[in-house]
Order: sequence, then structure tokens, then C-alpha cells
Amino acid sequence: MTTQAAVAGAPWTLLAGDAFGHLRTLPDAAFDLVYLDPPFATGRARRGAGGAFADPAIDLAESLRPSVLEIRRVLRPTGAILLHCDWRTCHRLRVLLDEVFGADRLINHLIWSYGLGGSAPDRFARKHDDILYYAAGAEHWFDPPRIPARSRRLAGHTKKATDVLDIPAINNMAHERTGWPTQKPLALLRLLVEACCPPGGAVLDPFCGSGTTLVAAVERGSSATGIDLSKAALRIARRRLVGLAGA
Ligand SMILES: C[S@@+](CC[C@H](N)C(=O)[O-])C[C@H]1O[C@@H](n2cnc3c(N)ncnc32)[C@H](O)[C@@H]1O
Repeated sequence: MTTQAAVAGAPWTLLAGDAFGHLRTLPDAAFDLVYLDPPFATGRARRGAGGAFADPAIDLAESLRPSVLEIRRVLRPTGAILLHCDWRTCHRLRVLLDEVFGADRLINHLIWSYGLGGSAPDRFARKHDDILYYAAGAEHWFDPPRIPARSRRLAGHTKKATDVLDIPAINNMAHERTGWPTQKPLALLRLLVEACCPPGGAVLDPFCGSGTTLVAAVERGSSATGIDLSKAALRIARRRLVGLAGA
């Protein structure tokens, strides 16, 4: 396992290697928010212009269990975990998080409705991911995010976001596209970080890929730690972080 050195004085750190291997070395109660977006166990390698990663059809809940136990340990008592998954594994991961954090610590089962993509002749088209939001302790920090209101009556105003987050997936022409497969949109991570991490808090993403979570965290003055098995992913994350003014 190697550490990819951060720029001196920068508020971010990138760690190259296995998520669990690094998680077990991190100190207790050090993070306000852990967001993780592990491979979805699709059974298909994920490829993009910026690189590729394996995504074997494994028992994701069982393979993530040791990491989730470490995540509970590294979270502050007012901290929270956001586990990004989809229809394949969401039900099992929710049982895992119920076991590790307690069913009463489930704050939201968020739906990320991304819209883009084709239709299906034999079923409703799958157009959302699931994000499981659990608190580490009895109290958690939350700042309700506001989004533009859609109704004609409230045109030009904002309203509180609901548990259905209507945010488009990154399109092929988007400026933010890095070429890393399954890169999540900054708009989604900005909303999640701002809502779930106190200003100046500490954010960890143990499957950080192209670094979207870290960019969202650093932009708002938080510190950010990212882990990824892929050096290609970390090169992209590093480039994005270095590109942030003042980071
Ligand atoms: C779904 S992608 C994350 C995408 C990221 N949220 C973004 O916006 O770019 C999953 C990432 O997990 C990484 N990965 C797979 N197995 C891993 C492991 N055991 N430890 C750390 N990272 C791993 C892959 O290299 C990939 O970058």
C-alpha cells in the first residue's frame, strides 16, 4: 500500500490501495462524513476513456462488512455514512447497515433519480440509484439543502430537497467528465456534502474513483481523504484537486 502524497498544506489526502487496508489504519472518530460508492457487483468490468476497474458479481454485503465496521469506528459520534448502491445490492446492504449501525439510525433511504439512458421493453426502465444514509450516534448534523422550486407558483424560489434527488447523470459533453467510469456528478456530491457534513468537517471516501466527493468537500472548506485501488483513478482525482483554487 502506498500513500500518494498530497500537495504540502493541502486539505486533501489520497491513499492508493485497498479500502479496508487503509481504513483499519485511520484513527478513531476522525470523520464527520463517510461517503462510499463501491463497485455495484454487476459482473461486468467498467471501462471509460480515463481507465477501467473490475466489478465482479460478488456478495457485496459480505465483502463490505469489515470496511463498514471500520467506518463506524472512524466516524465521529455526530457523523454519518452515505452508502451509494443500486437495485442489485441495496436490500442486502441495508440489512448490513441495520446490523452495524442499528435500524433506528437509518436517517434516509435516498433515491438519486438520474434520468438519462434508454428504455426497456419488458420492465420499467431503471433510472435511479439508492443512497443509504445512517447516523453514527443518537444525534447527527444535518443542514436541509434547498433546491430550485419547480411549480409555477414558486418560480424563482427554492424549497427543501426531499429524499428523491433529481439530478441528471453526467452527459458525454459535460465539462466535468473525466473519463473515469461511473463518475458521479458534482451536483449530487455537493448537495450531499453540504447537507450531511458540518462546515470545516472531515470527509472520507474509501472508493473515491475520480475524486468527486473530495472535490465537493474541499470546495466548501472541508478536509478530504480518498482511497482507491486504482492509481489511474487517483491521478484523475489529484488533477481535479490540484485544479481547485487554494487547494
Ligand atoms: C463506482 S467507482 C467510484 C466512482 C466515484 N464515486 C467517482 O465519482 O468517480 C468505484 C471505485 O472503487 C474502486 N475500488 C474497487 N475495489 C476497491 C477496493 N477494494 N479498495 C479501494 N477502491 C476500490 C475502483 O477503482 C473505482 O474507482
